[in-house]
This record gives sequence, C-alpha cells and structure tokens, in this order.
Amino acid sequence: MKHEIQLIVNGETRSLTVESQQTLLEALREDLGLTGVKHGCSTGECGACSVLLNGEVVNSCMVLAVEAADAEILTAEGLATDEGLHPLQKSFIDHHGVQCGYCASGMLISAKALLNRTSRPHEEEIREALVGNLCRCGAYADIIKSIQVASRARR
Ligand code: FES
Repeated sequence: MKHEIQLIVNGETRSLTVESQQTLLEALREDLGLTGVKHGCSTGECGACSVLLNGEVVNSCMVLAVEAADAEILTAEGLATDEGLHPLQKSFIDHHGVQCGYCASGMLISAKALLNRTSRPHEEEIREALVGNLCRCGAYADIIKSIQVASRARR
C-alpha cells in the first residue's frame, strides 16, 4: 500500500510516496538521495543510519517512513550551513575522526544530539552518546577527541 507523506528534512519540507513497509532509511537514501545516511546492518545494531527524528537519535533502518510523517529529520547533510562546515565536521577532519568514513555520518549525528543537550560533555558522556554507533576501523579515540575539541570550539 502506498502513502503520501511529508518529511521536514534538514529544514526543507519534502513530499514523497512510500510503501507501508518502507523504512525511513530507504526513503532518505533512495527517494530523497540523501546518501550520507549509511546503510550498514539493517538490524539496528551499527548506527550507520543514525538521524535525528524530532531531535532524538534513531536508527533510521528501524523506523518506518510512514511513522516519520510530518517529523523533522536531521541528516549529516543538514549539519553544514552556507557559512561552512559544522564545527563537528571540521573537527572530525582536523583530528582524524574519519578513517574509512562509513560510520562518520552516524557518529556526527549522535555527537550533534549530545552537544544539543550538553555543551561541554565529559569523555564518559561522549562514550555513552556513541554507544549505538560502531566504527569498524576502531577510530574511537580520535572520534572522541574530535567531539571534545568541537565542544570547546563552540561559542
Ligand atoms: Fe541501521 Fe545499522 S543500518 S543500525
């Protein structure tokens, strides 16, 4: 069964037609071309598909697109502005928070949610915020450092 829905993605209202069983991940990647949302495990284990859904981190592979109708979604593509990269993106580049890059979008989204709640998180808080995001390169130390530096750079 098809459904006409709207999603507010990265501040823009997008209309699309989705199947009942279609995931938010599929809608974002395949219908809206937001391939920064990565497809890893499809089982809610890896966090590569993390997005903010009304401000909360979700695994978009575990949410049906119809469940997200009318919600505000933030993907990694929505972090940068006309003024440039988000401080988290810049810090991930500067401090080697990205190796193969597959986990980076999800890590950035979880980090963004953390910084929305806590402007200067301690290392333990960062580790807790990233508990649902796996990095197959094992770059956790540099990812944590990148988030710490970005949090200090924020005004
Ligand atoms: Fe969604 Fe792995 S692809 S958690």
